[in-house]
Amino acid sequence: MPLNSKPIVRNVRHFIDLSDLDGTTLRRVVDMAHAMKAAGKRPPPELKPEGIEDAILVMIFEKQSTRTRLSFDVAMRQLGGQTVGLNAADTQLGRGEPLSDTAKVLSRYCDAMMLRVNDHTTLTELAAHASIPVVNGLSDLSHPCQIVADLMTFEESRGPIKGATVAWTGDGNNVAASWVHAATRLGFKLRLACPPQLNPERAVLDWAKAEGGAVELTDDAGAAVADADCVVTDTWVSMGQADAPKRKQLLGPYSVDDKLMAQAKKDAIFMHCLPAYRGHEVSASVIDGPQSVVWDEAENRLHAQKAILAWCLGVN
Ligand code: CP
Ligand code: NVA
Repeated sequence: MPLNSKPIVRNVRHFIDLSDLDGTTLRRVVDMAHAMKAAGKRPPPELKPEGIEDAILVMIFEKQSTRTRLSFDVAMRQLGGQTVGLNAADTQLGRGEPLSDTAKVLSRYCDAMMLRVNDHTTLTELAAHASIPVVNGLSDLSHPCQIVADLMTFEESRGPIKGATVAWTGDGNNVAASWVHAATRLGFKLRLACPPQLNPERAVLDWAKAEGGAVELTDDAGAAVADADCVVTDTWVSMGQADAPKRKQLLGPYSVDDKLMAQAKKDAIFMHCLPAYRGHEVSASVIDGPQSVVWDEAENRLHAQKAILAWCLGVN
């Protein structure tokens, strides 16, 4: 009998991509995030996972992080549980121990694992063999936890996101992919403006189309932001991407400055997951200006992580 006796693998609530959740479940997680924030540092009793006092979250990083690392650590402690943080390079993962073996061992010690990985298949492979939840703290393909925080940030400023219009301008990257998943699941319009060489993965756009998502792709940043409720962008060079000079050249016309923001709705908000590079993907006047909600967005990572962990640990 395993010491850390858990449900069999197929019953585990992994949080790997928003596309894995149905719309009702994603809506519930966002509502839980709002409720966690309203409750302050401690979760409302009905959102406190059973047995949390004895629960351990292990966090493993293959790449750098400030917000994800700290917000998950604080979130787990505020829920009433504990955390262990590891750098992948310091573990046997860095020496090639099979992911299936690692998944089984971590499942005997801990109650959930959160990882930031270079290769998305690391998460899916771990999830296939883990008997505890696997949470995606960012991969090359997606960043679902970020978008839970972004959805709640939008709703705090602009009301329900269903039916709203969000414009993404810049690289069609991991964060953009999770926006596509969210728009499709929650029924809002997403307009993506990307240079054709840096469009989102074809599989992500095909998925949205097949699922009936209102996702539009253009190469014209002005067209994407026209009358949008929210303008979002991200760094031109994500972690692990090598071709920085070429990316900077391609992405110049997609920078969010005052002129571009003026084409969105008058009361549109600006979001960026951070870290930001002023003078590249966004001007200082926009990110530090009155339409920017980036500090609420960063704070909301904490509340969102509590909701995600609570859901993974069995709260409905
Ligand atoms: N937005 C985000 O995930 O930030 P970190 O890379 O600092 O975790
Ligand atoms: N797209 C960025 C997000 C950082 C939080 C990256 O992957 O580096």
